[in-house]
Amino acid sequence: MEEEIVYGTLSEHMEFAVEAGSLSWKEWKREVQFEEKYESEQPYIDWFIEDYGYGSGDSLKTAIVAFTKETKKFVGIGVFVKDDLKSRPDINFSPWLANLLVHPDFRRRKVGTGIVHKLIQLAKDLKIDTIYLWTRTDKVKWYRSFGFEEILVTFYLFSDIHVMKKQLRE
Ligand SMILES: CC(C)(COP(=O)(O)OP(=O)(O)OC[C@H]1O[C@@H](n2cnc3c(N)ncnc32)[C@H](O)[C@@H]1OP(=O)(O)O)[C@@H](O)C(=O)NCCC(=O)NCCS
Repeated sequence: MEEEIVYGTLSEHMEFAVEAGSLSWKEWKREVQFEEKYESEQPYIDWFIEDYGYGSGDSLKTAIVAFTKETKKFVGIGVFVKDDLKSRPDINFSPWLANLLVHPDFRRRKVGTGIVHKLIQLAKDLKIDTIYLWTRTDKVKWYRSFGFEEILVTFYLFSDIHVMKKQLRE
């Protein structure tokens, strides 16, 4: 039987921070380097821990983590950031649902879905009106299933990206 997966905040589970930062670097190295913030993994991980490690549900800086209940393995993470396209000041929405990542061993088990739902709830609790994200074409349909709608398509780095928004309040 598959082990139960549970959710918490990164600030309560800093034991996952280095692995989460490292996986994030591997997944988004090109984007991170393009934005010219970090050229190598360790400074990025240090920033990741510094930036995402403190929120405990009372601010958008709260990183949501998923992990296995018994064996305490890192499974996934997602956060909000103020600016997720720094090189594109023409696209100045905020806040962005970002850094959504599920460990390859645990994909397609609805953990990504669980993290997105937790982040939407966090934003609702904080009375945020609208949240944004950008994604590549293959995941647009998936994000639509949470009620995100496309607002623009633009070329970024090496392919088109879709900027999507979800209104949380009328
Ligand atoms: C995107 C990601 C977070 C999804 O997490 P997950 O836990 O595997 O997703 P879930 O199990 O909740 O949802 C699975 C559903 O989403 C869709 N989906 C998930 N990953 C997909 C992908 N790579 N391409 C297309 N559809 C995908 C499918 O429709 C799938 O439905 P199915 O189970 O009926 O096949 C995960 O694949 C990941 O970490 N990818 C690498 C990082 C990334 O791309 N993050 C998103 C940046 S915008």
